[in-house]
Amino acid sequence: MHSLRTPLSESVIWQWQKAGYQNLGTKAWTEGGVPFYLTNHPKIAQKYAQIALMYLLENKNILNSSEPLIFLELGSGLGKLSFYLLQEISKWVTQGLLKDFSIKYIISDISEKNCQFWQNHKAFKPFIDQGILDFALFDPTQDDILLTLNNEQILLKNNPLIVFANYYFDSIPQDIYLVKDHRVYQGELDVEADTASENPLLEKELPYQLIFDQMICPPFEIERLMELIPNSSYITYPTAGFQTLENLKKICNSNILMLTGDKAQFNHKQMDWKKQPPITFHTTVSFTVNFELLKMRCLDQHGFVCLPQHFDELFSIALLQWGPSFSVASASKTYEDFDHWSLQNHNSMLDFLEKKEQPTLGELNLLLKFDSFDPFNFFFYNEKIKQALKHASFREKEDLIFAIQTAKKLFFATKKEEAILLVNMASLLLTLNQQLDAFVLLKEAAELNSEF
Ligand SMILES: C[S@@+](CC[C@H](N)C(=O)[O-])C[C@H]1O[C@@H](n2cnc3c(N)ncnc32)[C@H](O)[C@@H]1O
Repeated sequence: MHSLRTPLSESVIWQWQKAGYQNLGTKAWTEGGVPFYLTNHPKIAQKYAQIALMYLLENKNILNSSEPLIFLELGSGLGKLSFYLLQEISKWVTQGLLKDFSIKYIISDISEKNCQFWQNHKAFKPFIDQGILDFALFDPTQDDILLTLNNEQILLKNNPLIVFANYYFDSIPQDIYLVKDHRVYQGELDVEADTASENPLLEKELPYQLIFDQMICPPFEIERLMELIPNSSYITYPTAGFQTLENLKKICNSNILMLTGDKAQFNHKQMDWKKQPPITFHTTVSFTVNFELLKMRCLDQHGFVCLPQHFDELFSIALLQWGPSFSVASASKTYEDFDHWSLQNHNSMLDFLEKKEQPTLGELNLLLKFDSFDPFNFFFYNEKIKQALKHASFREKEDLIFAIQTAKKLFFATKKEEAILLVNMASLLLTLNQQLDAFVLLKEAAELNSEF
């Protein structure tokens, strides 16, 4: 075992992190236990898509129709959020909402294995056929050229680049500072690891401590932020996040609308700045992102920022915009409307409904609707739905059929074991005398997992 001590952003843990994501591919989520359920929820895609649409419609008259509208997702992982966003965006195409423009959604990541997974995924085929989907092997911390797997270089002169980034900034090198009595201390990470191991992150939870040394010349943003927060606060600093922003700006002439969701620090009365944010090691590294510093950087560059009014420990969404000629009024209004919804509220509501021992089908239908018809509910609540069906009214049964049909469209397989969701939905449809639809689902389940 060796003790390795460096400023946090220079720590070897970030190299292990990158290599881990590259080597594991989608197994990071399907076997490695990296969470993805919340950040890839259909509700979040609906929120992002609606904000982006409002932004584009409001600025339609100054967009250049000879340039495409590019949606770029950073660190897409499994691509499940991309699938939901693509469904929303392709609805706009069908509805003719942005009919003068060619639209392209780019799913990106640093892992070739992820790219292969997306390219072979059945759910993406219709979007590839429509010509609205492309993929990129792209490390935004290093690359300032965006080349898709179709060998197309993306370079925008006029139109804004629409960027989505969920739990991306938490995964790239960051620093941490302690501000105390008008002094700034930089955090050095001392991590104990077996240096002979190829990737110590994968083996076990690594013991670590942060040691704080006084700095003579701290970053100016830290000095500015310390005036706004309590004494003895810990401030995380998005070192590679700032580099990402600079790289993205080169791709699109500095016109960006970014929606990013993360575990974040920002000025909110419920934020406890005095508590040292933990570095979580779950196969990979995750560390709290400072939205106040992203905001400061954006405002310094004459940008525009919306941060949440509600505090959510796990997932907060920020809207950042660069590009003085573009108006952001409708987008920020839509952001505010959605801000009343937070994952924590959402989960509390589901808990409330879930606690009933045997809800009626009407109540379960409400839960499915409230959860944007996420197909996973046909795993979580299958038994309860089956029981409730025995005493359900005609109307409740019709609503359940609608819920299954909607959930089916949102099904995105990340591993073959998820075929059980299709089987459960099919068995409910059989009870509801919907043999034909049930058969289609069973066929799909068998294609995904031959054991069914
Ligand atoms: C925590 S995961 C989030 C995945 C997905 N957005 C989600 O919410 O489920 C972080 C993602 O960022 C990607 N990533 C992109 N650039 C990276 C970099 N320079 N270092 C580490 N990870 C990077 C990883 O491969 C991984 O897919």
